[in-house]
Amino acid sequence: MFETTKSLKTKLLGINLSNPTIMPAGFLGVSADSLIRAYENGAGAVTTKSISLEERNGHANPTVLSFGYGLINAVGLSNPGIDEYVEEIKEVKKRKIPLILNTIGDDNQDFVDVAKMGEAAGVDIIEINISCPNVVHRKPYYADPELLSGLVQEVKDAVSIPIIVKLSPNVTNIKEIAKAVELAGADGISAINTVGPGMIINIETAKPVMAFKKGGLSGPAIKPIAIRCVYDIYEAVSIPIIGMGGITNGRDLIEMIMAGATAVGVGSAIYYRGLDVFKKICAEAHEWMRDNGYSSIKQIIGAAHES
Ligand SMILES: Cc1cc2nc3c(=O)[nH]c(=O)nc-3n(C[C@H](O)[C@H](O)[C@H](O)COP(=O)(O)O)c2cc1C
Repeated sequence: MFETTKSLKTKLLGINLSNPTIMPAGFLGVSADSLIRAYENGAGAVTTKSISLEERNGHANPTVLSFGYGLINAVGLSNPGIDEYVEEIKEVKKRKIPLILNTIGDDNQDFVDVAKMGEAAGVDIIEINISCPNVVHRKPYYADPELLSGLVQEVKDAVSIPIIVKLSPNVTNIKEIAKAVELAGADGISAINTVGPGMIINIETAKPVMAFKKGGLSGPAIKPIAIRCVYDIYEAVSIPIIGMGGITNGRDLIEMIMAGATAVGVGSAIYYRGLDVFKKICAEAHEWMRDNGYSSIKQIIGAAHES
């Protein structure tokens, strides 16, 4: 395991993390191997790709492109389905790596079934993903507090491990959604999923560059939106938040924690800085904390809010 300094140690929903960085859903493919490699490269915890009840094929290539200020993706939630995926989960858990299972479904029962199988296979946390902008969700959970509350309650009743809900920035009032999720029994919130969808057109061919035409935006371009969302959510709820969106260096990580995050997802930055970005960000954050007189992450969580 990557040994970080004491100052970066943190606890998320009862799980001790060596540091607050988390690899969010969708990076490095689906295999146990890649999740293990992210952990060995410093991630405090790792998240699986979105896993559904049945296998899903996803969209045609190109599915991910860099546009200069971030990434645009329309992977389309391709995955082998939970039946097959439990083997990967078991492989990761043999090494006692903190593991979040990101789940998707067409209805409440899908989410419940995947969550139960994930719990039985040994995951530590269930993440409910209702916020991917590059697929057509059969139910608009992401923007409908009532519908979402029903889903959260059913999953909460079905498993005994913590559940978190991954929110979309593409809503009018994220505080209202966050409050509904907390009231329905969620143990935590992750935010944000990708922004959009957006589109990029190749002017030489006069065609959208993505096969799916549209895609979700991530990386540095969305960081201010992510910071604002986490700031708003922190004011609305008292459950922990995993903040993500454009976090690329140690200063970004501190900023996200000051907005109110307890732990921080680092995804697109893997493309920019390599898989050891987790170690690099931890070293940078540690140095900043030392230079600024902080000895623990706890002292910084929500520091940007008026007390
Ligand atoms: C290529 C790619 C694939 C992704 N796949 C998923 C996914 O399967 N499930 C999900 O909840 N989020 C997915 N996301 C969203 C990320 O988990 C994260 O919320 C978002 O990228 C913002 O963080 P970042 O700017 O650090 O990348 C994906 C993002 C990218 C770029």
